[in-house]
Amino acid sequence: MSTNTDTDEEERTERKDSEELFAEHEAQLNELLADVEGPDAPEAESTLPSLGDGVTRRDVMKAGAAVGAVGGLAGCAGLGNNTATESNSGGDVPDHKVPPGEHDEYYGFWSGGHAGDIRVYGIPSMRQLTRIPVFNRESAKGYGHDDRTTEMLEEAGDYTWGDSHHPSLSETDGKYDGEYIFVNDKANGRVARVNLTYFETDAIVDIPNVQSVHGCCIQSPDTGYVFANSEFRTPMPNDGRDVNEPEEYVSVFSALDPESMDVLWQVEVDGQLDIVDSDKDGRWVLSSSYNDEEGVEVEEMTKDDRDDVKAFDVPAIQELVDAGEYEEVNGVPVVDGTKESPHNEGDDPIVRYIPTPKSPHCVEVTPDGKYGMVAGKLSPTVSIIDIEKLATADDPADTIVGQPKVGLGPLHTTYDDRGHAYTSLFIDSQVVKWDIEEAVNAEKGSEEPILGKIDVHYNPGHIQAVQAMSTEPEGNWLVALNKLSKDRFLPVGPIYPDNDQLIYIGNDKDDETGGMELVADHPVYPEPHDAIFAHKDKIEPATTWDPEDYDEEFVSEEDSRVERVDDSTVEVYASVKRSEYGLRDFTVQEGDEVTLTATNIEGTQDIVHGLAIPEHDVNLALAPQDTRQVTFTADEPGVYWIYCTYFCSALHLEMRSRMIVEPSE
Ligand code: CUA
Repeated sequence: MSTNTDTDEEERTERKDSEELFAEHEAQLNELLADVEGPDAPEAESTLPSLGDGVTRRDVMKAGAAVGAVGGLAGCAGLGNNTATESNSGGDVPDHKVPPGEHDEYYGFWSGGHAGDIRVYGIPSMRQLTRIPVFNRESAKGYGHDDRTTEMLEEAGDYTWGDSHHPSLSETDGKYDGEYIFVNDKANGRVARVNLTYFETDAIVDIPNVQSVHGCCIQSPDTGYVFANSEFRTPMPNDGRDVNEPEEYVSVFSALDPESMDVLWQVEVDGQLDIVDSDKDGRWVLSSSYNDEEGVEVEEMTKDDRDDVKAFDVPAIQELVDAGEYEEVNGVPVVDGTKESPHNEGDDPIVRYIPTPKSPHCVEVTPDGKYGMVAGKLSPTVSIIDIEKLATADDPADTIVGQPKVGLGPLHTTYDDRGHAYTSLFIDSQVVKWDIEEAVNAEKGSEEPILGKIDVHYNPGHIQAVQAMSTEPEGNWLVALNKLSKDRFLPVGPIYPDNDQLIYIGNDKDDETGGMELVADHPVYPEPHDAIFAHKDKIEPATTWDPEDYDEEFVSEEDSRVERVDDSTVEVYASVKRSEYGLRDFTVQEGDEVTLTATNIEGTQDIVHGLAIPEHDVNLALAPQDTRQVTFTADEPGVYWIYCTYFCSALHLEMRSRMIVEPSE
């Protein structure tokens, strides 16, 4: 490549970044602004400040950011001059670097987005500890390679990928109990369960009547149900009927049994469901919602000034199901929770429709269970829903007891242990810290409750603080999951890493950030979506498998054998240990279907063996005491060296066996 081309390319990129992109983005924002400023905008507190003569969109954004730090525009413009907030103002931020050999204080479980997995990090070091494949096949852990996990993936639709978004840790008495993580698949309408004893996915359910699951959470305080929101509205059932009648499409709220993973019931609602969170008493579940217009084009979806948060009265819905008050669709009881439903007449509706400013995104319940925070997305406010009022308010709108104006593009809210909320501002590229009770007491639209803002780089989606989804927030570390990293790391080609930024929130200071300190950047592989953090004492992983926890035969050295079942079927059983397989070789006939069962008979921590057969797509990963089975066809005569993929001992390379495939006559 010539220097000229380089320069041209640089100039072109530069120009695109600094001019066109900003102009495009500004145009988009102005369009949104025009919408919220439309003639039918009902209440001042839900709208952005109006633009007077000569006042630009940029000025409005600057004004919004002026409460906090400078430089809030950089995320939009890609200019990246944000050094002002990065000075470390004192020695009172604990060291986030964890010395060699020492453990982190917290586990962080990240959803991997369309990578389909869960990533496990230590906090505060942000070292990646492992990944747990969920909706994706993963050769390093043999997931989707052995029969057990392959059959699970096949029965759940046999897709090659999923889009994991919202991990939710199981709870007992409102505290993380370390049993399971549940997570949705936005791409294929599924929910998976990860067993935290083994850090392995043990169930995936393809939910009927649902195309895409977005929000996913457990019922607090005791994991009574797992809830899943369908995001995309479709005809129900989606079998070719009503395809050209969008008004007939529906969105449903699903409840699953956390143990059997059966879909227990669904509630059909008006509008389109988004994120979901449970109260702390097992009664109300809140779902944010956009596109109550029920449109199919973006202009239709954002037309109105209000979308209704849905509050589900779970015990009341369960009562209706128990009483047979439902219609069964594809084997699932579906309760009518639309506005016109008879179940929503009178004083005790099963679904309360709470109007909030247009197209809100999230809903996150405070650790004390008092409030649900609904961030405005296209409104610069967060609406505070008083959960106690859900049962008593005559008008659902009266459940909104506060509406601080926090900044542009508010998406997600998390909490510390001192009554503060932290909200990500996607458009401002900031995190804003605000006082919850002050916001309840202040007038709607007030900026008074804001304690500070900190720049992040760039455009944060979810943010999460330690243990903030449980009743035990710890109020020290917060991670901003930023969607763009732009100039923060060495360039790696056109697909950039995301940037997870670690922020210390343990100090309350009267400064521009309210005491928040940005302490580290971490590039992450695309494209993590959300995360949940638990103290290390909450999680108790096993070091070896318990053979009681699987159905396959435990194969000891003496049990290693070959059994011919019939003319074309062979079963092979082999133990595995350092540094040999229970069978030095075995022979099958060309065309045989072979089922190979292998057990790692070792009980030693961290001695994992592999069992790979070249040219047969066989790849097992065997943790100590684990047994896995794989079925394949031996369709080419020859000799195949079976080898171990995990470096297990000095004789790892010599750890071999031979599969001999004899030619048929
Ligand atoms: Cu067993 Cu390498």
